[in-house]
Amino acid sequence: MGFDKGHFKIVSTGHYTPEAVLTNRDLEKMVDTTDEWITSRTGIRERRIANGKTTSDLATLASRNALEKANYDKNDIDLIIVATFTPDLKSPSVACMVQAKLGLDKPGIMAFDINAACTGFIYALNIAERMLHSGLYKSALVIGAEVISKVMDYKDRNTCVLFGDGAGAVILEKDESREVLFNISSKGDQDLILYVDEYINMDGPKVYQFASRVIESSIRGLMEFGNMDTAMIRKIIPHQANIRIIKSASKALDIPLESFFINIHKYGNTSAASIPIALDEMLEDEATQADDKIVLVGFGAGLTYGACSLTL
Ligand code: UT7
Repeated sequence: MGFDKGHFKIVSTGHYTPEAVLTNRDLEKMVDTTDEWITSRTGIRERRIANGKTTSDLATLASRNALEKANYDKNDIDLIIVATFTPDLKSPSVACMVQAKLGLDKPGIMAFDINAACTGFIYALNIAERMLHSGLYKSALVIGAEVISKVMDYKDRNTCVLFGDGAGAVILEKDESREVLFNISSKGDQDLILYVDEYINMDGPKVYQFASRVIESSIRGLMEFGNMDTAMIRKIIPHQANIRIIKSASKALDIPLESFFINIHKYGNTSAASIPIALDEMLEDEATQADDKIVLVGFGAGLTYGACSLTL
């Protein structure tokens, strides 16, 4: 499929990032690195660490934040999808744990997880849109949540400086007046340039090249599919993996860096949580209007990648 057109409205957004901060200076004491190297090569200054809280804890707190902001009746939710590669357990799903923690016990709710690594939230939005479109579900809670610190080798300077923990959530309802476009792909990678066993393993430069290429092609493809030009885009929310990847996308697309929302300095790479956290912060920080178009773009292990445009 790749390209898909649908409709939903974002009723509310929320996020939760743990209180504990791990700074570049802290990492200097743990591995052979410097604040200067991390800041100049990645744009990251600090990241948050869950310190005992689980992925479902973070996901639940982000969901509560979204419910409270819109004063939304939690009993309206009938679909819960969590994008994560760091579930609390192999089974049950984080989505079922969130359902329990939120006290959603109405029969007929569907709750499940998906794993598309850092592109997971965009994949989950597409699945939610299709399920709302079917008319069988009315209200979707879509979450990206990760506790990456539990699969982090704090002796490996190639990876441990990059990642952090967090969660973001959105509540969606069907709305025919708000168009959503998707351009989603995966490219099975037998070389495993990015994978997780006990810890995250990554060939950084290869992932960097892949990411720079697919951010540009995903957004170009989406704009062509939707007959959009750059003037129609209020903001681009890229997966927050490396400021240099975002800068190279800005240059390749000839879209000013100011049009990209960036919070990587505070949280590092939170994988599936990075886009929904950034979306929530962007909506809190910046003046937006109904009908503004926002573009989300992600890439990650799989390899997976894709972009999505939303109408506020
Ligand atoms: O969300 C999933 C996707 N993940 C990504 O998007 C990550 C994509 N990749 C990247 O962001 C970058 O490749 C990194 C930030 C991971 C690495 O930056 P780079 O500019 O590609 O550096 P490099 O891997 O080519 O390493 C350059 C040098 C090496 O030293 P030598 O061989 O030149 O002596 C590394 O050993 O930097 C060294 N290095 C470090 N030095 C200090 C690697 N990590 C560190 C470190 N501190 N933390």
